[in-house]
Amino acid sequence: MRLLTVKNLRKTFAQEKEAIHAVNGVSFHVDKGEIYGLIGLSGAGKSTLVRCLNLLERPDSGEIWFDGIDLAKQNEAVVREKRREMGMIFQHFNLFMRKTVEDNVAYPLRIAGRDRHASKKRVHELIDYIGLSKYARAYPAELSGGQKQRVAIARALALNPKLLLSDEATSALDPVNTELVLSMLRQVVKDFGIGIVLITHQMEVAKALCGRVAVMENGLIIEENNVETLFLSPKHAATRRLIRGVEDAFSLKHGETITTGNIYRLGFRRESVRRPLISYISREYNVDINILAGDINVLQTGDVGYLVVSFEDAGDEEGALKALRENGVELVPLTAEDAVNHL
Ligand SMILES: Nc1ncnc2c1ncn2[C@@H]1O[C@H](COP(=O)(O)OP(=O)(O)OP(=O)(O)O)[C@@H](O)[C@H]1O
Ligand SMILES: [Mg+2]
Repeated sequence: MRLLTVKNLRKTFAQEKEAIHAVNGVSFHVDKGEIYGLIGLSGAGKSTLVRCLNLLERPDSGEIWFDGIDLAKQNEAVVREKRREMGMIFQHFNLFMRKTVEDNVAYPLRIAGRDRHASKKRVHELIDYIGLSKYARAYPAELSGGQKQRVAIARALALNPKLLLSDEATSALDPVNTELVLSMLRQVVKDFGIGIVLITHQMEVAKALCGRVAVMENGLIIEENNVETLFLSPKHAATRRLIRGVEDAFSLKHGETITTGNIYRLGFRRESVRRPLISYISREYNVDINILAGDINVLQTGDVGYLVVSFEDAGDEEGALKALRENGVELVPLTAEDAVNHL
C-alpha cells in the first residue's frame, strides 16, 4: 500500500548572493512496511526535504500525497492534523529535558487533547515496548544516547502515525547504541505496519535497514535503487563515494600514474564473490588485470563485493568483459579521474 508520493518537490532559500536550491525537483514514493533510505553528503538537501514532507518547511512547489490528499495544498489546520500521522525523530533526540520519560512520551497525546486515562495506558505500553519501564520516571539526563533515542521513538509513535521520518537518528550514537536503535526501527515497522523515511549520511545504516535507497546530491535524487543493485552497479561517483566509506583497504591517491588502461568497477553477487573469477579471466583471455581497489559488503540479501580493476596491455579485453558479464558481474566503466577521486 502506498503511504507517501512526492512529486517534483522544490524548496529554494534566498541568500544574499545567490539562491540555494536545497530541494530541486524531487520525486519518490514510500510503501507501507518499507524503510526508504535517503542518503547523501552534508548539504545535499536531505533535512530540507524531510522537513518539507511534514510541512515544517513550506515547499515552493510540488506535491506531497499522503492519506489521500496533497499536503502541499492544505492550510495550516489540516496540515497540523495530518502531521500527527507522521512521527519524527532527530539526531539530537529533541526530548524535553525537564520532563520525565513518561511525560515526554505523553506530550503529543496531551497536545492532541486525548483522553487522560487512555493516554496513560498508551504511554505505558510504549515505554514497555521500548524496554524502558524501569526508567518511566527518570529524566533524559539519566539516560544513554540510545535510550534517549528509544524514548524519542516512543514519543513519535504515541499518536499511531502511519509514517515515521527519521533524520540522522543514529548519527550521534556509538556503534552499539546505533545497532540497538536500528533494530528497534526494524521492529517498529513490523509491529506497527508503518513506513519509514530514513535519512542518513552513513551507507552502513542504509545497508543495515533499507530496502530501496535514494542518493541525494545538490537537491536532487541522482540515483535510486534497491540496496543490492546500488552496491553492485552504482552509476554515480557520489554513490560510489558513499559506498566506499572511509576505511577502504586501498587508496588510489596516485592512481593516475598507476594505469593507462581502461578502468572498470566490477560488482560481484554472492555466488561469485568468493570464486577465483579474475585469475580465470586473466588466463583465458590473456589480459593483465591490475586490481586497484576492492571491498566486500555484507548485505541482508547476501555478500556483495566490488573490485576496481584496470586492463593492462589487454589481449582479448572485449572477450574478457563479455565473460565477466556472463558470470553475473556488473560492469561500470570509470574514468581515471573517477577512479582516483571516488572509486
Ligand atoms: N533555513 C535555511 N536558510 C538558508 N539555507 C538553508 C536553510 N536550510 C538549509 N539551507 C541550505 O540548503 C542546503 C541543504 O541543506 P540541508 O540541511 O537540507 O542538507 P543535509 O543534506 O541535511 O545536510 P547534513 O547532512 O549536513 O544534515 C545547504 O546548502 C544549506 O546551507
Ligand atoms: Mg541534515
